[in-house]
Amino acid sequence: MTIPISHTFKTLILAFLFFLGIIINTCFYIEPKDVEEIRVELSNKPLESNRPSDKEINRQYCGTDECKFLFGYNFVEQETQSNKHFISFIQIAQLINRAVVLTNVGGSGISSLNNFPFEFYYNIYKLKKKFPKVKFISQSKFQKWTKERYYKPDIIHVLLESSKSNPNFTIQYNTAYIDKLVKERRIDMFDLKLNDSAIFKQIGIGITAGRNEVEKNKLKNFLSDELKNDAEVMLITQEIIRHPMFEKLTPMPYASHVTKAASKLAEKLKPYIAIHWRMEEGQVELMPQCAESLVTYLKNLSLKSGISNFYLATDYPVSVSATVTIQ
Ligand SMILES: *[C@@H]1O[C@H](CO)[C@@H](O)[C@H](O)[C@H]1NC(C)=O
Ligand SMILES: *[C@@H]1O[C@H](CO)[C@@H](O)[C@H](O)[C@H]1NC(C)=O
Ligand SMILES: *[C@@H]1O[C@H](CO)[C@@H](O)[C@H](O)[C@H]1NC(C)=O
Repeated sequence: MTIPISHTFKTLILAFLFFLGIIINTCFYIEPKDVEEIRVELSNKPLESNRPSDKEINRQYCGTDECKFLFGYNFVEQETQSNKHFISFIQIAQLINRAVVLTNVGGSGISSLNNFPFEFYYNIYKLKKKFPKVKFISQSKFQKWTKERYYKPDIIHVLLESSKSNPNFTIQYNTAYIDKLVKERRIDMFDLKLNDSAIFKQIGIGITAGRNEVEKNKLKNFLSDELKNDAEVMLITQEIIRHPMFEKLTPMPYASHVTKAASKLAEKLKPYIAIHWRMEEGQVELMPQCAESLVTYLKNLSLKSGISNFYLATDYPVSVSATVTIQ
């Protein structure tokens, strides 16, 4: 037999539960500050018995309770320039004691959107010898670290730029442009705490060309101060900078499979004339004429030197299968 419950009674029960809810809520309301403290405490404890704490995850990836990374996620220019900039970023990481994320490579560039690991282009072993004080992590390991973390790592975004005319250092805080980073750089493939509270700092480093040692040290001191930050991940990028920011170093060493392939090719071609024909800033209308002049010049050089092999390196988008014969 069922006991009929009147509509009014039901409403009464619902109302009671509702108010009980409010009372419980009020009784257990915690000040925001306490939430933060509890949060920090929790982050050190496993949440489920089989789940490692964030501290343990950090130790596994960084060897310390805390991880601090510097992640140059995008280098706009081609390899020779990107190579220099990457070195500058390693030098910055050393200044502010952060481990460097070894960004992916591909298409003659360095960017987190590329498909190949850093070691496809560069020799990590030699790079570590060049910077014995700096720690490195591969992009894929870094990504894994972000995914494993319970509390997602927080970020600061830094944009460095140089000036053609203003020698002064400048600092500007921008409104966060997470959406742009997600849309253009797919930064959400890393499990970071991407929210509106992240600092977006734009730093002008003055005129980089022809800077002397004293000025370079001044920049180092300035950046050490300005880039001090508690965020676990520093996303960093640069604009307009065309020179090494600090002391000029030899390029990042290339992967041995690259240098071996180059040597093999050189052995096969020897003796040969190598041409680096940079068309990037050439004028399109003049190109046919330039090309003819180049051929004339090379023919002459070939006649004089008796060398008939040529190696042409150019940024013209020649399809991979195309071959060029100079007759
Ligand atoms: C650079 O700083 C100096 C000294 O503070 C100032 O006089 C000068 O106007 C600044 N230059 C520019 C381009 O802002
Ligand atoms: C972003 O993170 C900060 C720090 O934890 C927090 O106070 C804030 O509420 C978050 N903002 C959003 C929109 O999630
Ligand atoms: C070939 O090279 C010589 C010596 O550099 C030069 O004098 C001559 O004009 C060149 N000829 C052509 C066709 O470029």
